[in-house]
Amino acid sequence: MSGLFITLEGPEGAGKSTNRDYLAERLVSAGCEVLLTREPGGTPLAERIRELLLEPSAEPMAADTELLLVFAARAQHLAQVIRPALAAGKVVLCDRFTDATYAYQGGGRGLSLERIALLENFVQGSLRPDLTLVFDLPVEIGLARAAARGRLDRFEQEAQGFFEAVRQAYLVRARQAPERYRLLDAAQPLPAVQAQLDELLPELLERARG
Ligand code: TMP
Repeated sequence: MSGLFITLEGPEGAGKSTNRDYLAERLVSAGCEVLLTREPGGTPLAERIRELLLEPSAEPMAADTELLLVFAARAQHLAQVIRPALAAGKVVLCDRFTDATYAYQGGGRGLSLERIALLENFVQGSLRPDLTLVFDLPVEIGLARAAARGRLDRFEQEAQGFFEAVRQAYLVRARQAPERYRLLDAAQPLPAVQAQLDELLPELLERARG
């Protein structure tokens, strides 16, 4: 058995976590064994790296440091959680993965995509998500939702232009490989987004059972 690796992506405030829980519930009801996880994080050590990445600090973090920390957390997460779960035949639902690196460190910070690809190959080998759901929404709506949640983390404190670049990077990636990406309109009210997930469910179940 090889499991199924599904990632959820999108800019800030896209409602990924809520929708991830909803999707997990639907997959479990249909008989799938599901593992829910997130990046950066997903193991105690990787969650400590997440704190380093998200905590605002007086010392500016160099873009390369950020990139390497993201991949350091990913290496740990893959070794401890993702690879074992896939090997056990589970459906892994992961809130963000390497597409976020292409979007935030590539699009947002302007780091070279070739370097990101180099690290992707180094850390992941040939492992890529089977399917990536991109929750797309206009930047203003997402940032307003994030602000309503309370204190802003180090990424959320970035200017609007950063998030426009993040959003565009996701859209470009989704357009380049339509067989892997499914684009959802996350600006709609939650029930409408969940209806979009319901539409995807038969395909997900077919893949999970295949
Ligand atoms: P979250 O808000 O979805 O929990 O994600 C935490 C932040 O980490 C979010 O602002 C995006 C950022 N991030 C990156 O910059 N690069 C990455 O590779 C990942 C996984 C997340």
